[in-house]
Amino acid sequence: MFSRDKILDGKKLADNLNLELKSKINDLVNKLQTRPKLATILVGEDPASKIYVNIKHKTSAHVGIESIMVNLAENISKNELIKKIENLNNDDSINGILLQLPLPQHLREYTLEFLEYISPIKDVDGSHPCNRGKLFDYDESMAACTPKGIIALLEHNKVEIKGKNVTIINRSNLVGKPLIFMLLKRNATVSICHTSTRDINSYIKNADILIVAVGRPNFITKEKIKDGVVIIDVGINRVEGKLCGDVDFDGVINKCSKITPVPGGVGPMTVSFLLRNTYQAYLRHFSD
Ligand SMILES: NC(=O)c1ccc[n+]([C@@H]2O[C@H](COP(=O)([O-])OP(=O)(O)OC[C@H]3O[C@@H](n4cnc5c(N)ncnc54)[C@H](OP(=O)(O)O)[C@@H]3O)[C@@H](O)[C@H]2O)c1
Repeated sequence: MFSRDKILDGKKLADNLNLELKSKINDLVNKLQTRPKLATILVGEDPASKIYVNIKHKTSAHVGIESIMVNLAENISKNELIKKIENLNNDDSINGILLQLPLPQHLREYTLEFLEYISPIKDVDGSHPCNRGKLFDYDESMAACTPKGIIALLEHNKVEIKGKNVTIINRSNLVGKPLIFMLLKRNATVSICHTSTRDINSYIKNADILIVAVGRPNFITKEKIKDGVVIIDVGINRVEGKLCGDVDFDGVINKCSKITPVPGGVGPMTVSFLLRNTYQAYLRHFSD
């Protein structure tokens, strides 16, 4: 048995944030007679990506954000995809554009190039170089959704960040890199680990807050962690048809002080911040 207080409940917080957003959008729709609109681009048939995109659309509808799904054939060419992005950039009714990753293999090497084609003001996953660059100056206004969700979850649960040793195992553009700046802004001491890190276990053991996004079940076990660590499990894996994270939840639960469950932790917070970013992009559209 363990105390429920240990659980960083992302589902509950995201539900509350979504309700708050729904009410703000309702007020605005009454005034402006339009609502925010999100376009997601899904290339190919990747089953996990399809599930994620469907969740994003369902939650958009729930909060009052209109959404369109641009489904493109697996074998679409580079130029055709760029054209689709440009069409969405030029469509004044659309406030947010999300390109679902990963792309099919033949397009993957151009991922950064595609992301640069998305207009920075519609870039609701903070992937455009302009928005990534703003993070250098600690401007999080259009930053990546998963890191924003993680910070909100820590702050809402009053997990102290200042002065803490935070270890992140991931250096991707959508998780690890944005988190570096968000955590530095909050005065943490940040270590970032990856496949070439030597003696990774020493960084794991040293962590007051451990953020794991590796994509491997049971990557973090009880022997590796320090007593009382706060664990953010970002990983999403499927084992025998069931979702799990990167952490051996049952093994670590009596040793850590707090932990995000999978599912129900970081995932719903990511979606919630996608919708908040879309709402912000919509507000900016009207204030320009
Ligand atoms: N819950 C959510 O909302 C959410 C959002 C985004 C991602 N995710 C999940 O998070 C995981 C990572 O996603 P991603 O897109 O960031 O993937 P990614 O780009 O493949 O990044 C994985 C990272 O883990 C590192 N890594 C992999 N194996 C390792 C090992 N044995 N030791 C140390 N480092 C290792 C990689 O190091 P190198 O850089 O050296 O390769 C890389 O930095 C996936 O499970 C994904 O589904 C969840």
